Amino acid sequence: MVNRLANKVAAITGAAGGIGLETTILFVRENASVLMLDISEPALEKALSKVYELCPEAKTSKQFIKTMKCDVSKEADIKNCIESLDLAGGIDIMFNNAGIMHSEDDDAISTSEKIWDLTQAINVKGVWFGCKHAVLSMRRHKKTKGSIINTASMVALVGAATPQLAYTASKGAVLALTRELAMVHARENIRFNSLCPGPLNTPMLQDWLGDDVQKRYRREVHFPMGRFGEAIEQANAVVFLASDESSFVNAADFVVDGGMTKAYVTAEGPATAAPKNNVV
Ligand SMILES: NC(=O)c1ccc[n+]([C@@H]2O[C@H](COP(=O)([O-])OP(=O)(O)OC[C@H]3O[C@@H](n4cnc5c(N)ncnc54)[C@H](O)[C@@H]3O)[C@@H](O)[C@H]2O)c1
Repeated sequence: MVNRLANKVAAITGAAGGIGLETTILFVRENASVLMLDISEPALEKALSKVYELCPEAKTSKQFIKTMKCDVSKEADIKNCIESLDLAGGIDIMFNNAGIMHSEDDDAISTSEKIWDLTQAINVKGVWFGCKHAVLSMRRHKKTKGSIINTASMVALVGAATPQLAYTASKGAVLALTRELAMVHARENIRFNSLCPGPLNTPMLQDWLGDDVQKRYRREVHFPMGRFGEAIEQANAVVFLASDESSFVNAADFVVDGGMTKAYVTAEGPATAAPKNNVV
């Protein structure tokens, strides 16, 4: 399918890798213009060449793909990046996706205040700033509709005895703030939804787990479909939430986890086949 996002202008944070990059590629294929935001400039540069390599038609079409360095925990950065879209008629879609899972994030006793504050600054404040400046842009440009998607996590819904307390608390906050903003802006037709991914095959999770914990995780965690998720499976959900096809989907905790948060006893048998990410 193409054109599901035609004539729309989107900004994506954490766009240099994982879910953000897969989403950028799908958005471009659906003919959106995309502003890719990330804290890492070299990673953004690499990501942009990948997007052009996989979507060569974007070089000659009227849509644009741009990158800007942005630390989402700094309001001035987010404001500046979103206001740069004024020249393009303002924003229609905001995907607040950047987030960190710090290796020193642990339980209530071991997590330091520094790691707690850093995690909340990026994962919660960053989402707030993204929502704020996207709404201001939509109002400035008198948009009749808008879609804001915030990446939370499955850990906002279920507890884990492999703790990462600051991260879990931050994702719970994302769910709550998204729900509230959905109520505040519903009559402006600006929809807010949370994406709740299950555990993915991305560097973020694999780094955090390490080899030993990964083994335990695979043994003790219920995976109804017998596998981790792929970034492209999240990106496909984001395309739906961003598009007008989801016009009555608002304030949802949109769970994409292979059924993990609904599992009691899982089936036996071989793992299901996973789709291939665009970026391998
Ligand atoms: N990987 C998983 O299993 C998983 C599960 C549930 C939720 N999530 C969430 O999905 C989102 C994307 O994660 P991913 O797995 O694609 O991770 P990733 O590490 O591949 O991508 C995250 C991107 O965010 C960028 N980033 C980090 N700090 C930033 C900042 N201050 N400002 C701007 N950009 C910054 C990084 O440079 C990176 O490119 C995160 O919010 C994460 O918490 C991931």
